[in-house]
Amino acid sequence: MEHKILEIRAAYKSEINQAASLKQLDEVRIKFLSRNGSVSALFEEMKTLTKEQKPLAGKELNALRNFCESLFIAKKEEIEAQSSIVAPKIDLSLPGVNYPVGSRHILTRTLDEIKSIFKSYGFSVSGGPELESDFNNFEALNFQADHPARDMQDTFFVTKDFLLRTHTSPVQIRLMQNNKPPIRAIMPGKVYRNEAVSSRSYCLFHQVEGLYVDKHVTFAELKGTLVAFAKEFYGSNLKYRFRPSYFPFTEPSAEMDITCFICGGKGCRVCKNSGWLEVLGCGMVDPNVFVKIGYDPEEITGYAFGMGIERTAMLKYGITDIRTFFDNDIRFLNQFK
Ligand code: DAH
Repeated sequence: MEHKILEIRAAYKSEINQAASLKQLDEVRIKFLSRNGSVSALFEEMKTLTKEQKPLAGKELNALRNFCESLFIAKKEEIEAQSSIVAPKIDLSLPGVNYPVGSRHILTRTLDEIKSIFKSYGFSVSGGPELESDFNNFEALNFQADHPARDMQDTFFVTKDFLLRTHTSPVQIRLMQNNKPPIRAIMPGKVYRNEAVSSRSYCLFHQVEGLYVDKHVTFAELKGTLVAFAKEFYGSNLKYRFRPSYFPFTEPSAEMDITCFICGGKGCRVCKNSGWLEVLGCGMVDPNVFVKIGYDPEEITGYAFGMGIERTAMLKYGITDIRTFFDNDIRFLNQFK
């Protein structure tokens, strides 16, 4: 009996050690510990022993069974632990998954740059609604009743008295109506025009308006501020010029040109061979505008300016079709990350 116990113990130990899966382990368990297993067979055999032999054999058999069971449990835990490590098969050499990351639209970036320059000059940033009154968009800005800009062909009228603003200048009116001078602000936003769509014009675009009103504001300050801006935005070695122009809400009015940075002023397709690029409109606020909103034009002076953000970005980045800003073609947008 003792001999058999040792034999089974050794056989069991070696088979358990070789088991590599839970299935193989269970096969070993069935072979040795089930009702028909070899350990159970020894218990059966015990019945044939003498009364004197039985207690010792019983003790040894129980020890064998305990040994087998504890070995089984230990091996089972070992296999389970190993399989849980191996289970999620991760191949660390595989290339990672790239999640597409968005970026600021080129118009937003251009506007942010314009904003940060004017903020550094002490300008605040204001806004107004896109649905405007005829009064704010035209009347208060000194547009004559028969001014062509009021024409149905240019303006999206919503009712007789309300329209989609055609420029950001009405925000000047709102600011002046609600604040006392000094006011120094830029006013970015969307504007709408009922024009034929082409590479140069779109029914929707963006402008930034600028306004500084106070006592004794001069044209020299207007020039100084806009020249400083242009040099910071477009490049410090540009040349510039102010050309006389006309806007109903400024007197005198001017347009600012800078030397074409594509050809350096020699003349090319972008500057239409003139060597100059028109970058913004500006002027001294017309006294009639001050009268409309209730300021005293004898006491208050001011300057204003306006520029298109699409046009500004097109000049700076050499973009040739305004419609590309609104197509949201990822190949276009990715160029400006
Ligand atoms: N509102 C003008 C436009 O849409 C731009 C402009 C020109 C604004 C001169 C101004 C200015 O404030 O002084 O074309």
